[in-house]
Amino acid sequence: MRAYELTAGGSSIDALRRCERPDPKPGPAQILVRIQAVSLNYRDIMIARGHYMGGPVGSNVIPLSDGAGEVIAAGSAVKRFRVGDRVAGTFFRNWIDGAPPPGPLVALGAPPADGVLAEYAVFDEQDAVAVPAHLSVEAAAALPCAAVTAWRALVELGRVAPGETVLLIGTGGVSIFALQFARLAGARALITSSSDEKLERARSLGADGCINYRTSPDWEREVMKLTDGRGVDHVVEVGGSGTLSRSIACVAVGGRIALIGVLTGVGAAGSPYGLLGRQASMHGVFVGSRGHFERMNAAITVNRLEPIVDRIFRFDEAAAAYRYLESGAHFGKVALCI
Ligand SMILES: NC(=O)c1ccc[n+]([C@@H]2O[C@H](COP(=O)([O-])OP(=O)(O)OC[C@H]3O[C@@H](n4cnc5c(N)ncnc54)[C@H](OP(=O)(O)O)[C@@H]3O)[C@@H](O)[C@H]2O)c1
Repeated sequence: MRAYELTAGGSSIDALRRCERPDPKPGPAQILVRIQAVSLNYRDIMIARGHYMGGPVGSNVIPLSDGAGEVIAAGSAVKRFRVGDRVAGTFFRNWIDGAPPPGPLVALGAPPADGVLAEYAVFDEQDAVAVPAHLSVEAAAALPCAAVTAWRALVELGRVAPGETVLLIGTGGVSIFALQFARLAGARALITSSSDEKLERARSLGADGCINYRTSPDWEREVMKLTDGRGVDHVVEVGGSGTLSRSIACVAVGGRIALIGVLTGVGAAGSPYGLLGRQASMHGVFVGSRGHFERMNAAITVNRLEPIVDRIFRFDEAAAAYRYLESGAHFGKVALCI
């Protein structure tokens, strides 16, 4: 099959190269999926740069965690799917539901697990979900990482409620899904961006407080003004060590910070003690389980929610898609059709 591979030891997107791999064959409890579309996440840039989850990327790997397509063969013991079903793989292998399992979770698209930037992929039937019927395959491919993370942070852990206020940082994949889920829940959304044009797009999706973090570098003060000095009930913290202390400074009494991202790095982030007086909490979020994905899909289906896919590249433009994401020019998600 046609695929892409990241070569071990690479330090940039230049490590991405076309390759041929043997067509995968499903085992008895597995499905073979013809991948029709994939999407990129910021983690894929980190993996291409050769460093992920605190360590080097030690072996060649087919990248990308997020793919959707059609089941074209099923093993003899498969019960959940049939040939012809439209599915997406889950980000993690073998986390069905409930609390995260003990021991390291294996995520697609980083060693030891090949990802989905290929014509075919095999999944254990337990590690795939049916995708919402109203979605294009590119929109479905946007869901496994960014959407599940935003859903879990705000809905399942955050229990976001009508009338609460949510703060979103930047206009990338996680933040724009979180904006859409906040609106579904009846919450008010504030959002930051480096671009006034992107803020206008966010406003058209329902954001009602828009702050340019370039022209207002002390954006936490703007957040306090926009909330009459109360602060926000939820922060979807994708910014990392460069934004965390500002997020802590504008969380409300009893508020929650979902610690998700590392866009500005993971260095020293200042004191967490601002949480104490506000009796606020901070919770690490690492994507989610198949159960999170399935419950989110139910909400997406009922609300006919449309993921925001900024641009769709062709398979032979994979490097250009990576560079587009790396440039930060996108709004929402970047996809490729296979
Ligand atoms: N823990 C998890 O499970 C999990 C899951 C998914 C993602 N993540 C992490 O969450 C982060 C976002 O991921 P993503 O895939 O949504 O990224 P993305 O789509 O690449 O979004 C990046 C956007 O973030 C904004 N940004 C960049 N630098 C910023 C800064 N210094 N301050 C504020 N905003 C900044 C920019 O928005 P503007 O152009 O609007 O300024 C940029 O376009 C990454 O660190 C990723 O690794 C974690």
